[in-house]
Amino acid sequence: MTTPIIAICNHKGGSGKTTTAWHLAHALNADNNLDAIRRVLVIDLDDQATLTNRLAHQAAAIGSPIETTPTIADALDGAPTTIYHYTPVLSYIPADHRLSWIAAKIQATSPNHAHLMRALRHIEEYFDYILLDCPPSAGIIMINALAACTHTIIPVTPTQESWDGRNRMETMIAEIAAILAKPIHTLGAILTMRSPRSRNQDYYEALNAQAGLLGAIPHAVGLDADQRIYAAYAPIAARLQHTLAQEA
Ligand SMILES: Nc1ncnc2c1ncn2[C@@H]1O[C@H](COP(=O)(O)OP(=O)(O)OP(=O)(O)O)[C@@H](O)[C@H]1O
Ligand SMILES: [Mg+2]
Repeated sequence: MTTPIIAICNHKGGSGKTTTAWHLAHALNADNNLDAIRRVLVIDLDDQATLTNRLAHQAAAIGSPIETTPTIADALDGAPTTIYHYTPVLSYIPADHRLSWIAAKIQATSPNHAHLMRALRHIEEYFDYILLDCPPSAGIIMINALAACTHTIIPVTPTQESWDGRNRMETMIAEIAAILAKPIHTLGAILTMRSPRSRNQDYYEALNAQAGLLGAIPHAVGLDADQRIYAAYAPIAARLQHTLAQEA
């Protein structure tokens, strides 16, 4: 079975990509009546390094600081791919600001879309799922993510901008799949930061009808926000596990 490589993507910034990657990375480890704990690798593909900073912050808070260099930028640039372990079953590849410079550099290579694919080639087999936390741009890093991925998930906030970002993303996914002559399976959309206002219901129903809604995440604030957000991602992770197990 090939490892599902899931690109979490939307062209609109702030649509919940990193939050989705973070919580799904944790929730996909769970057994959920499968035969074993699942091994997850999450890769930060954003030069803003939000996911990396979150991992580092969380690790420092529990008194076990993590390493964050070398990064995915080095792997894309041709160095051996370095993987770090956050827990025994959750691994990560960090990013940092140099990713924007490496992106400019690999843009000029040929073929320029296959660097991430190459960086993952010999490590895929060690994981049950690989998650790609994509940047909000349509540049060469996003193209590399789509070239390397097998599946996509699109987080959408209940706003017109995020909805438009999803549409642009779907067009790009279809175009890259056609150019590279490879299937990219859409696992569905996740409605993120949903609040109980009527307009939100429109997006919920539209996504449900058009995009295979995987679930909705409440807009949560306050001390228990993280637990409430995680609780909403857990059933989505369980559904994904079963969907992907059926595909295998
Ligand atoms: N369910 C939620 N409830 C409350 N706040 C949330 C929720 N999901 C995400 N956020 C917050 O919204 C902001 C944007 O989320 P996130 O960083 O996940 O989006 P993104 O799509 O990765 O952004 P970018 O395009 O900049 O990479 C963050 O400050 C995050 O903490
Ligand atoms: Mg992000």
